[in-house]
Amino acid sequence: MRGQAITLDGVEVTYPNGFTAVHQTDLKVEAGEFFSILGPSGCGKTTILRAVSGFVEPSRGRILIGDEDQAHKGPNIRPTALIFQNLALFPLMSVWENVAFGLEARGVSKRKRKARAEELLDLVALGDQADKKPTELSGGQRQRVAIARALAVDPAVLLLDEPLSALDLKLRQHMRAELRSIQRKTGVTFIYITHDQGEALTMSDRIAVMNEGRIEQVGTGDEVYSAPKTAFAASFVGEANAFAGRVTAVENDMACIETPEGKFLGRNSASMKVGDAAVLFVRPEAVGFGTAFGNRLSARLVRRDLEGSFVNLLMRSDAGAEVAVQMPNVGTTPGVEDDARPIGFACGSAIILPEGPLARTGREVAAE
Ligand SMILES: Nc1ncnc2c1ncn2[C@@H]1O[C@H](COP(=O)(O)OP(=O)(O)OP(=O)(O)O)[C@@H](O)[C@H]1O
Ligand SMILES: [Mg+2]
Repeated sequence: MRGQAITLDGVEVTYPNGFTAVHQTDLKVEAGEFFSILGPSGCGKTTILRAVSGFVEPSRGRILIGDEDQAHKGPNIRPTALIFQNLALFPLMSVWENVAFGLEARGVSKRKRKARAEELLDLVALGDQADKKPTELSGGQRQRVAIARALAVDPAVLLLDEPLSALDLKLRQHMRAELRSIQRKTGVTFIYITHDQGEALTMSDRIAVMNEGRIEQVGTGDEVYSAPKTAFAASFVGEANAFAGRVTAVENDMACIETPEGKFLGRNSASMKVGDAAVLFVRPEAVGFGTAFGNRLSARLVRRDLEGSFVNLLMRSDAGAEVAVQMPNVGTTPGVEDDARPIGFACGSAIILPEGPLARTGREVAAE
């Protein structure tokens, strides 16, 4: 079966205890698309997957897969397959029997089941592991068995709920490429849930950024990273320095914002007006040393973290704001004892957005 489109038309999900986990949402995922939903813990990602797969009924609105309304259709008759956060393979069955499990319930003969399982194991590059037991595989291999098992029933839509979260970093990065290639080969529509922006950016055709039960922005990785539409999207996807203040002037598609750090110019893509409370965002890699910038401030280096090919610097401005700077590691970053020095960023690399809730930074989460 080829991938099918998924349409959420005014979908709202309220749990029996009265809590609305997903507020009215319109969303169209195209047939054959690799679509990610990215957002922090508790924002409603799994709830959307449960609604699409039929484990929970929307309290309002409709869900269509292809042209078909899914109202009152149970999970077993929807053209979807779901891969959970903590997958469980059957330990006593061989790898191929695990993959073929869903076919047995559908009355497929053993010979055909084995043939189909072998085909899928080839697809996930495990063709030579069919007779092993799951315990004899690595974490990444087990994950691929789970994917093959989900694909065995020929779903039009594969729903993946943080399927890589149990794997270590190296394996996770490797599996990103594998998943992407499996999706391309099969043409199945993938909805991939993650709170890891690196995963979402590297794998997806498009990403939905979600916060507190609402999708705040849908776009390609480039769009979401370079042209965030909300303060939350700017602060959640990638790192960003944020300077809050008020808009003091607007001209063409640029705006001027007055902040405790000084006056800065940035792109006014949200059409802010003079007097509006606003936040300017600028990525660490867009901040540099020197005075050759449209926006300038003076700051002292407080920490230098070597990442290998690049260096992360934490600076403190004269007015007291933390400014993250990321530079390629070409041996020219200053030492920590140095005096205050001029730093800055181009006006075109800054974006001015309406004031709103910010994502918590890794530093804040780690401090808890
Ligand atoms: N069965 C339920 N009854 C009531 N509230 C629920 C239920 N399941 C989830 N919630 C609440 O709904 C909100 C969204 O939950 P959901 O599981 O969709 O979040 P999530 O984005 O998948 O989070 P995580 O990244 O931690 O998996 C949370 O506040 C959660 O506490
Ligand atoms: Mg979840």
